Parts: sequence; C-alpha cells; structure tokens
Amino acid sequence: MAVNMKGKDIISIHDLSREEVIQILDTAHLLKMKNKIGEIYHPLRGKTLGMIFQKASTRTRISFEVAMWQLGGYALFMSAADLQLKRGETIADTARVLCRYLDGIMIRTYAHRDVLELAEHSTVPVINGLTDLLHPCQVLSDLFTIKEKLGNLQGVNLVYIGDGNNMAHSLMFGAAKTGIRLTICSPSGYEPDKEITALAREDALKTGATINLSSDPGEAVKSADIIYTDVWASMGQEEEHRKRVEAFAQFQVNSKLLEQAGDDALVMHCLPAHRGEEITDDVVDGEKSIVFDQAENRLHVQKAILALVM
Ligand code: CP
Ligand code: NVA
Repeated sequence: MAVNMKGKDIISIHDLSREEVIQILDTAHLLKMKNKIGEIYHPLRGKTLGMIFQKASTRTRISFEVAMWQLGGYALFMSAADLQLKRGETIADTARVLCRYLDGIMIRTYAHRDVLELAEHSTVPVINGLTDLLHPCQVLSDLFTIKEKLGNLQGVNLVYIGDGNNMAHSLMFGAAKTGIRLTICSPSGYEPDKEITALAREDALKTGATINLSSDPGEAVKSADIIYTDVWASMGQEEEHRKRVEAFAQFQVNSKLLEQAGDDALVMHCLPAHRGEEITDDVVDGEKSIVFDQAENRLHVQKAILALVM
C-alpha cells in the first residue's frame, strides 16, 4: 500500500521507513519509464523548489533543476553567498520566510545541524542535497542503480573503499534499510562516525543487512558485487588534501584491486572523481564501471522524491 510522504523532509535515510525507501525506488522506476517513452507527467505544476547551495555542484543542481522542470514545476537556484544568510540573517528566519514563497527547499551545505534547523522552522519539506555528514539523495539513487543492475538489494555485497565520510554514512543507512551486506574499508583514522555506525547496525537488525568495517581493500573486495569509492578529500577538506593522498595511497580502486574481486563486480562512484587518486582512468572508463548510469539515475530518483514529498 502506498505510504503518504507529502510534506516529509528528506534529511537522512535513517529517518525513512523501509517502505518509504522502497516506495521512492518504485516511483523512480515508474518515472524513468515515463521519461524514456516521452510521456509528459506534470504532478508539480505551479510548484516551486528553492535550492540553496553553499558548496559547488554539477549533478545535484542540474538533476534537481531538470527534475522540477520535467515534473511541471519550477526550480529556483539560490547561491548562499547572495542571500542575506551571508550577512548574518539566521537560518530560522530564512526558513520562516522562504516557506512563504516555496513548496519545497533543497539545501547543500557544510554543517548538518543547519539543515535540521532549516527543517525545524520550515513548513514546507526540506531535502538534504549533501552536508558534511550525509548525502541521502545520492544514496537513494545508488540503491536504485544497484537494483536496476543486479535485480535486487537484499543480500547484495557492497564494498565501499575510502573515506568514512558523508557518502560512507549514507551508504550505511541505505544498506541497513534494504538488506545490503556493506563493508566500509578505510585507513586507520578515517573510519566512519561511531554513532552513525551504531544507528545503521540497529536498523540492519530489522532487514538482515550487515555493516562491517575493514582496513584491507584486497580482502574486502573478494566477494564484492559492487565496489564503490569517493574522493579522499571532500568539499571543505581541501587543506588536508596532501595528507590524505598519503593516508589513502593503498586504497585506490585500480585494475590490480579489481583483479582480486570476482569477474562480475561492478564499480560505482558518486562523482566528481579525482582520476588518478581514489580511482584510475582505466577503471572509471572500463567495462565494469556503471558511474554514468549512476549519475543519470540522480534525475529519476529525485523526481520520485519531489513527486512524493511536494
Ligand atoms: N554526486 C554529487 O552530488 O555530485 P555534485 O557534487 O556534482 O552535485
Ligand atoms: N564526499 C564528497 C561527495 C561529493 C558528491 C564531498 O562531500 O565532497
């Protein structure tokens, strides 16, 4: 039975029920099919999504903007640098005002608590377009891509090689809700947040998912269905770049690592990729890579999210 998600904030996959996650994926499938046969579908006619960006973006910005257009609505880009936020207006007041004009707000920012505060004071749904802590829209879309490629999620062996960052955290929550067997493989000192690991493990008990931590990439990828990676230095960590390149040197997804995985293992990356660092050219461009299908699916899954919550 359909779950009514109208008005719901999408801030963390941990806050969604398993049914809601599945409903987003099923809706995305339907909308992708409509899109491919050229069917016009305008459930958001007359509605506006405001998009606040405090960090750069290619995929998130463009896919949300196109998503709103394709759903018959309008997307309004707001650079945080041009809002009164920059001059000290509070997040609470910004939320109180923006929700008088908008039907939904998407925000990409640094501090996760800023998104929580925005949502607390907004009467329209708030969508997290990435914080330092989480990237839920990316992972909802990744779940869709995995299901599309492998036919299911339950029992899939997903191995993430890299930083215990926003991507790792959202993958943990996404895996936990859908029965994925996830291994996060990071160098010492770059493991995912302990509290998030514990919360994901709690969720995992309900679905048969497993959340493992490892520091041995060769061992971790042995029975992987999917090998996933992300940049070593995320947005906001540019000053740590050099130190991180050294720390992550053994954690590159390259052809040597792929040789240690099964022949059917596929490679994912949320992009943007730092080619030659966390992933090599031959792997991103190779036959195992599904990264550009993965990027396309951001559009279809975000359309599902928008159609369900707005
Ligand atoms: N994957 C992702 O969120 O890409 P952008 O930073 O380009 O939005
Ligand atoms: N971890 C990366 C993800 C980019 C989509 C970052 O936060 O920069």
